[in-house]
Amino acid sequence: MLIDDLSTPALLVDADRLSRNLDRMQAKADENDAALRPHGKTHKSPALARWQIDRGAIGLTVATLPEAEAFAEAGVGDIRVAYPVVGRERYERLLALTETATVSFTVDTEAGVRQASRFLDDAGTTMDVLLEVDVGHGRCGVPWDADEETIRLAEAIADAPGLDLAGILTHAGQAYHGPHDGESKADALRRAGREERDRMLEVAVRLAEAGCEGIDADTFEISIGSTPSLTHFENAERAGFRITEIRPGNYVFNDAMQVNLKSAELDDCALSVYTSVVSKRRDPSGTERVYVDAGKKVVTTDQGPGMDRYGTVLYNARYMRAHPHAVVTDLSEEHGWMRVPGGATFGVGDRLRIVPNHACVTVATQNALHVVDGDEVVETWDVAA
Ligand SMILES: Cc1ncc(COP(=O)(O)O)c(C=O)c1O
Repeated sequence: MLIDDLSTPALLVDADRLSRNLDRMQAKADENDAALRPHGKTHKSPALARWQIDRGAIGLTVATLPEAEAFAEAGVGDIRVAYPVVGRERYERLLALTETATVSFTVDTEAGVRQASRFLDDAGTTMDVLLEVDVGHGRCGVPWDADEETIRLAEAIADAPGLDLAGILTHAGQAYHGPHDGESKADALRRAGREERDRMLEVAVRLAEAGCEGIDADTFEISIGSTPSLTHFENAERAGFRITEIRPGNYVFNDAMQVNLKSAELDDCALSVYTSVVSKRRDPSGTERVYVDAGKKVVTTDQGPGMDRYGTVLYNARYMRAHPHAVVTDLSEEHGWMRVPGGATFGVGDRLRIVPNHACVTVATQNALHVVDGDEVVETWDVAA
């Protein structure tokens, strides 16, 4: 089948670029003596997870129970829910997963510890949990410098029946915020990477110094990761502790946001939205308005710092050249609004590829990924959750 046989909008995954991205991240993990546990929320694809595991990933990270269930059903044997799991219904689903997979999850509050402990103890089982730490993102997690709270929570987990404290986990989402004043993009990525690594090592050392039960540098897991904060990742050691695991997600596809952050090149972007031109109008100024059938339900409205457009329109998908003039300036649900100052060479019925700003959200809007080699569709993978 050729891509022209697909109905649009459709998601295309360039097999060679995907493969290169997977190999590169696996090599980075290996060189740094850290395990790779990719975040599956980016692709939600059991077939793609298999490519990751075949290359050396030790298991998968997920954000939701449906993702965990889809990967477990496809045979992924080790799944980490990097999300504070609360509520009886979710605990029941977690427990059911342990029949076929090794499962762990995160906690970051005393209430979360108490509730999970009560459920798992009543069920007569014990599960590994990781204490979530906030290294500057400001979302969930104990602030990395809140020593007393961290020690109290670590002790609460260690004492809680039904829970084993396996380690600490963070996601340096601040790497997506871009540079501070006067900072280069590369330095911003280095800073976020250092904050993520060094703050987690400090937390581990402080827990060990406080004499918390079960904090042994040989077994204690320190799990970090976001695609941008891992761009310049180099492992380090403090009092015997090292980063044991990295959990990037977006790196499989990359996207216009990663290119904007300078965490990837356009040539590293494996995912594009295949779309048809449905209408074309010329403004009195000569600018052409081109409308495509990929609106916010596919391209999504996400933007990174300083970005003024919705995705990058490709002029040449083989060599990943951006179109010099075409810009998606607006989106409605089913329409992408493109401006082409000076006029467009493409017309109604022609097809284009757009690299989306945020691949993870784009994938979550669709139910299939078409793996392509040039213009040929070589496989179609389900987006399973
Ligand atoms: C907890 C957690 N870990 C890992 C990741 C992966 O980050 P990225 O997609 O930047 O690689 C995310 C992304 O949202 C996350 O929330």
